[in-house]
Amino acid sequence: MTNSLIELQSVSRSYHGVAALEGLTFRVEPGEFVAVVGPSGCGKTTLLNLLSGCDIPTSGRIERRGSVRMVYQHDGLFPWLTAGQNIDLALRKLVSAQDRKSQRQALLNLIGLEGFADHYPHQLSGGMRQRVELARALAGETDLLLMDEPFSALDYLTRLRMRDELARLLHERPRTVVLVTHDIEEAAQLADRVIVMSGRPGRIICEHSLSLARPRELTDPEVTHAVQTILSELGLGMQRSENDRTDEETK
Ligand SMILES: Nc1ncnc2c1ncn2[C@@H]1O[C@H](COP(=O)(O)OP(=O)(O)OP(=O)(O)O)[C@@H](O)[C@H]1O
Ligand SMILES: [Mg+2]
Repeated sequence: MTNSLIELQSVSRSYHGVAALEGLTFRVEPGEFVAVVGPSGCGKTTLLNLLSGCDIPTSGRIERRGSVRMVYQHDGLFPWLTAGQNIDLALRKLVSAQDRKSQRQALLNLIGLEGFADHYPHQLSGGMRQRVELARALAGETDLLLMDEPFSALDYLTRLRMRDELARLLHERPRTVVLVTHDIEEAAQLADRVIVMSGRPGRIICEHSLSLARPRELTDPEVTHAVQTILSELGLGMQRSENDRTDEETK
């Protein structure tokens, strides 16, 4: 038995005989941040459902240790509760009301929303709502966070800010994370390891490890190099450099 939080062995999932995922084998170690990138429809959400235990593979084996929490693309906040009350839900295991209050305040400070405890989700921007969602995810003692394109509904600049925010929050409160995304820059900036998937049916094309300590800048050479490498692995980098060459040749 290894120390891995998750271990997949030749996992496949089909729907009505049509393969969505095929032959996935990988592990997630405690404290690791693993990103899974792949095109739309390659089975990223299906994979997270398998990892969370909401779904079971058609074939293969999945072993999981510890508790799991999902963070969704569209914020999962309860609209009839304030930001503070939404965070309280994740703190309900704390027996003392005083402890709950101080934890809630610490989390609101952490996400820079000290004055917004009494605001309802519709009174917050999309980025603020996603910050509350992250605070809620980090509030409990969950071992493993599963994130399904948590920032893809946000505009580009907010997305960049939220990436920094997530990296900073994880620095303060380390967790094991599996993030699925189609955003290669996001994956390379945030993750220790990027698993690259093919189009449907999703198979692992390759894995790419980054050694630079987190949090990282998008412009760090290891991050930009990883983005280029992953694009080439997806057959996109080559195409781009060929186009660049053609442009230069025609100048
Ligand atoms: N419950 C289901 N019943 C039938 N087919 C499904 C079901 N869930 C997913 N699929 C199919 O499995 C494939 C993978 O879907 P999935 O939602 O996992 O992709 P994805 O990578 O998350 O896509 P996106 O990037 O658009 O979110 C798709 O072709 C989809 O049609
Ligand atoms: Mg999806």
